Amino acid sequence: MSSERATEAVTVAVIVVAAGSGSRLGHELPKALAPLAGRTILQRSLDSIFGMASAAQVIVVAGDGWLDAASVPGTTVVVGGATRQLSVAAGLAALDDGIATVLVHDAARALTPSSLFDEVAAAVSTTGAGVVPALAVVDTIKRVDGEQVTGTVDRSELVAVQTPQGFPRAELTDAYRAATEDHTDDAALYAAAGHKVSVVAGDPLAFKITTPWDLARAEALLRRESSAQYSAGTRTGLGIDVHAWDASLPLWLGGLHWPGEPGLAGHSDGDAVCHAICDALLSAARLGDMGSNFGTDDPQYANASGQLFLDATLALVREAGFDVLNVAVQVVAQRPKVAPRRVEMEARLMEIVGAPVSVSATTSDGLGFTGRGEGLSAMATALLASTSPKQPRR
Ligand code: CTP
Ligand code: MG
Repeated sequence: MSSERATEAVTVAVIVVAAGSGSRLGHELPKALAPLAGRTILQRSLDSIFGMASAAQVIVVAGDGWLDAASVPGTTVVVGGATRQLSVAAGLAALDDGIATVLVHDAARALTPSSLFDEVAAAVSTTGAGVVPALAVVDTIKRVDGEQVTGTVDRSELVAVQTPQGFPRAELTDAYRAATEDHTDDAALYAAAGHKVSVVAGDPLAFKITTPWDLARAEALLRRESSAQYSAGTRTGLGIDVHAWDASLPLWLGGLHWPGEPGLAGHSDGDAVCHAICDALLSAARLGDMGSNFGTDDPQYANASGQLFLDATLALVREAGFDVLNVAVQVVAQRPKVAPRRVEMEARLMEIVGAPVSVSATTSDGLGFTGRGEGLSAMATALLASTSPKQPRR
C-alpha cells in the first residue's frame, strides 16, 4: 500500500497559513506555535492533513523568524506576509508543478477532521468550482447601528464558513494575481474574480481557535477523546478459588510459606490467592481460566507453586496484548490471620505481577464452609490495559 501511495501522482496541495501573531489569543508565541494538549496548534492541524486518504503536497506558511520552529518533516515551509491574503499568496508560489487542486487551511482550526480535507478536495474535482465547508447559523442575527437594533437578518440564507477551502489551482492563482483589495477569505477573493463557489457540510470540530476560551475548549475536547481511548483499551476480570484444608501439607498462600499453619489440598500447592489472581487475569484478557489453559490434572503441574502459575498466566496475558494495571485480592477464611503479613504478601505478589496488588482478608462470621473451617477461599479482580489502545487484539 505505502509504495502505491508513494508512486501515485500528487495532484492536491494544502496550504496551511500559520503566519499570524494571534493577538486575540494573547500567547507569548505566535498562535500556531502555542501548545495544545502537548503539541502545537500547527502540529495538530498537520496531523489531520497527514491523515488524508490520498497524499498531498503540504505547504506551511510561517511568520518571519519562525520558519525553523514551524518546520515539520514532509512539509515545505515559506515565509508569510503582513495579512492572511499575502500569506496565502506566498504559499501559492511554492506549489509543485503537478498540483491541480489547492486547499487553503487556517492552522488555527486545529481539530479539523482529515475527512473534511478529503471531502473538499473531492468536491473541487467533481464540480470544477471553489468549495467551502459551511455550517448553518444558529443564532438570530441582528443589524445594529451603535447600540440601536435596526433590523433582523433572515438567517435561512446565511451560513458560517470554515476552512479548508478548495479551488482549482489555475483559477485560484489567477484570482490572487488579479486581486486589488483585501478579502476576508479565499472564497471571497475567488468569487470577486468571477468564479463560482459552492458549499459542503462543515464540521463543528473545524472551529477556529481565536481566543483563550477557544483554546480551552480544544484542550477539553482532546482530553475527552484521549480518556475515551484509554477506557476503550482497559479490561476488568474476576477470579475465585477455593481449597479444602489438609493439615498434612504445608500452607502456601499469596506466594508465602506459613509455618505452623495447616496446608490446602490440591493437585498443585493449593495457593488459592495466586490461583484467584490467575483466573482474574485470564478473565480480563478473555483467555478462559486456569483449567482451560493449564489442565488441573496435568502431571507437569503436580505440586506447582502459585508463582509458576502466575508467571505462565502473565506470559499469556502479555502475549495477547495487555499490561496489568492493578490486581486486588481478598482472602475469606477463619485462618491464617492475614493482617500481620498483609504488607509482606502484597510486596511478594507485586514482585511477581509487576503492578500494584492489594490484599485484604475477612472471616465469613462463622458461616458457610469457610466459617465451619472446612477450607479457604480467595477472590480477585484484575485491570488490564491494551498495549495497542485503539484496537485490543481480542
Ligand atoms: N494568518 C497568516 N498570516 C497573517 C495573518 C493570519 O498566515 N498575516 C493565519 C493565522 O496564522 C491563522 C489564520 O491565518 O492560522 C486565521 O487568522 P486568525 O485566526 O485571525 O489568526 P491571527 O491573525 O494570528 O490572530 P489575531 O487576528 O487574533 O491576531
Ligand atoms: Mg487575524
